Amino acid sequence: MMPLQSDKQPSIFLLFPFTILIFTLFLVSAVAQSGGKPHPWMNPSLSPDERASMVVKEMTLDEKVSLLHGTGMVGLSPMSPLAVHSNGGAGYVPAIPRLDIPAIQMSDAAYGVRSSGENGRYSTALPADVAGAASWDLDAGYEYGALIGRELRAQGYNMSLGGGINLTREPRNGRTFEYLGEDPVLAGKMVGSVMKGLQAQHVLGDIKHYALNDQESGRNAVNINIDKRAARESDLLAFEIGLQESDAAAVMCSYNRLNGDYACENKYLLTDLLKKDWKFKGFVLSDWGGTHSAEKASAAGLDHEQPGWIFYGDDFKKGVESGKIPVAELDDHVHRILRAMFATGVIDDPLQKSVVDVVGGLEVAQKIAEQSTVLLKNDHVQLPLDTSKIHSIAVIGPHADVGMISGGGSAQVDPPGGNAIMPPGKGQTRWLEKIWFPTSPLKSIRAKAPAANVQFDSGADPSAAAALAKAADVAIVFAYQWESEGMDLESLSLPEHQDELIAKVAAANPHTIVVIESGGPVTMPWVDQVSAVLEAWYAGSRGAEAVANVIFGDVNPSAKLPLTFPKSEADLPHPTVVQPPSESIPNYRLPDVWKQIAAGLTAFQVTYNEGVKVGYKWYDAEKKPVLFPFGYGLSYTTYSYSNLKVTTGKTPRVTFTVTNTGSRAGAEVAEVYASLPAAAAEPPKRLVGWSKVKLNAGESKAVTVDVDAKYLSIFNVEQNGWQLIPGDYAFMVGGSSQSLPLKESVNLK
Ligand code: BGC
Repeated sequence: MMPLQSDKQPSIFLLFPFTILIFTLFLVSAVAQSGGKPHPWMNPSLSPDERASMVVKEMTLDEKVSLLHGTGMVGLSPMSPLAVHSNGGAGYVPAIPRLDIPAIQMSDAAYGVRSSGENGRYSTALPADVAGAASWDLDAGYEYGALIGRELRAQGYNMSLGGGINLTREPRNGRTFEYLGEDPVLAGKMVGSVMKGLQAQHVLGDIKHYALNDQESGRNAVNINIDKRAARESDLLAFEIGLQESDAAAVMCSYNRLNGDYACENKYLLTDLLKKDWKFKGFVLSDWGGTHSAEKASAAGLDHEQPGWIFYGDDFKKGVESGKIPVAELDDHVHRILRAMFATGVIDDPLQKSVVDVVGGLEVAQKIAEQSTVLLKNDHVQLPLDTSKIHSIAVIGPHADVGMISGGGSAQVDPPGGNAIMPPGKGQTRWLEKIWFPTSPLKSIRAKAPAANVQFDSGADPSAAAALAKAADVAIVFAYQWESEGMDLESLSLPEHQDELIAKVAAANPHTIVVIESGGPVTMPWVDQVSAVLEAWYAGSRGAEAVANVIFGDVNPSAKLPLTFPKSEADLPHPTVVQPPSESIPNYRLPDVWKQIAAGLTAFQVTYNEGVKVGYKWYDAEKKPVLFPFGYGLSYTTYSYSNLKVTTGKTPRVTFTVTNTGSRAGAEVAEVYASLPAAAAEPPKRLVGWSKVKLNAGESKAVTVDVDAKYLSIFNVEQNGWQLIPGDYAFMVGGSSQSLPLKESVNLK
């Protein structure tokens, strides 16, 4: 018979009295230590810096070092016995009860709390991060973060490991869904909002992966070569803006090397830029297994190692004792961690597990999914569907009867009940396995069109699907492309012969609507044959309901692409994703693979010679036509733009009018781009601001966008600063990067 309890895990009933004893001892010792009075740093009217400094003064060397590392993770480091007190998340830093410093319980939480099912809990899956960016709605970003923050706390976590912001420089990157698109201003502002929402819940936020970890292939070994100006104006600018906007508690340094040094021991990245230039007050933690030294990393500015203590435990302590690591450096690391804990309220507002608000979570997830679904094509007003005129609908596509796909890897949120395509009870989530959320397109369409005959075909046999489509008034094909951490896509084509399926269905029915579930751009060889296309991304727990609301017109789409859909991979800056040689790949079959990773794998080179030309800046500069441009998205109404005025000053101000010229209410993302004087030698244009404007039918609104001078500047490497090149600047305004009806040039000095 199977034992009910493993012999390693004492029964919870046995643990209960033990827990009470420990808690009582903790209270007695805390009060005894402080002479019966609360510690002076527990006074919330003091500044986080003052409070952190007071604690640092009281700490022993061992206590300080204990804050510098995690307690291990199977496969990535040895395990500490203290790990039993972890809440089951990716990282755990034990408490220091003597000083009233609580544990840090870290969980991945890119689009919801990770591994919730595994921990016997429930969490909401929001639409993927890239979808959040497609809303171009900073309030939605705040709600996104706040929801994650609430659910983290309910589940017993006080630190999030979300906040992915690597620019989509390589759209085949398997983590594109976890990031916020290809533009540094959009991504930076969005992550800033997400962090504000999250940290308002008293959760430590983190922005990652710093920096230029823009491909998964060979991520532990790759050396990214890029010139400083291009890096500052692209990927690093996204971090700069995100941190400026949000005061995030932490930054996670990435696995890769950058211009020679590992990101987690790269002095330029961690100290010169992050801590000195940007005045970042939080702490830097390494990606899991991304630490490669104690002395060098510490001097470079790495504050904390995860998941274990290969370097930041005994080695670090010895380094301090021998004087190789200055005490001031150690104290700075500790101060930063404590300061972040005081500043975000994780010390004043201790964790208490509670019940996740499932209904509230689903409402937020659906609302954001509705705001992030992009209408890419709508010929002959195919959408919204009018149920009074439609009597039969063919719903086609892999698993469209039961679920919608989600993004994999450490971002994976567990679906309730397990993977929707597996038999009940067998649906646990596994690394590098496609997970479908139980949000059924078929059911949600049936619910919207109860009088219509709605039939399903999986598309496994394209001819059978085409026959079903032929007999229906409209065909809706749900197509997917799955992405995950730990892999890159071979191409941007839909897998599993879905291109062939869509082409066949479209040939059989002229009213074919395609709904794409993807984490980034896909190619669409069939696009001219279908009448409508929606990009639903990985749409989260309530994806199907949101998509149905858009299809049937209960929601007027308002999202815009946060990244370009190219016509083909041949148009990308790099023909293929550079693959690592075998010596640069960790051997995960080795029981102590962590030793191999920690020691450092043989570097291989990837050179970003497209430089600052990321996404639309590349296609613009290279004059490559695209399938759907950055910033593009249709609505069921139409908008016009007029009255552009640009006033110059320290902060140029752009004002214009947007009018809803159609017959229904909507929200328009009004985008402002600038082109710099020729002397700046920049791509043709860059996004410098936007505003999402709600308009009733026929309504006009005046819009004002103040443009941060930095967004108009170039990075001058010699002067090590942002520089506005004097000359003529053209400001262009409109509804997509390729539809900018208003233009005015002004001279800026
Ligand atoms: C990922 C991080 C993640 C960490 C902890 C790493 O492999 O790159 O994004 O936060 O694991 O799960």
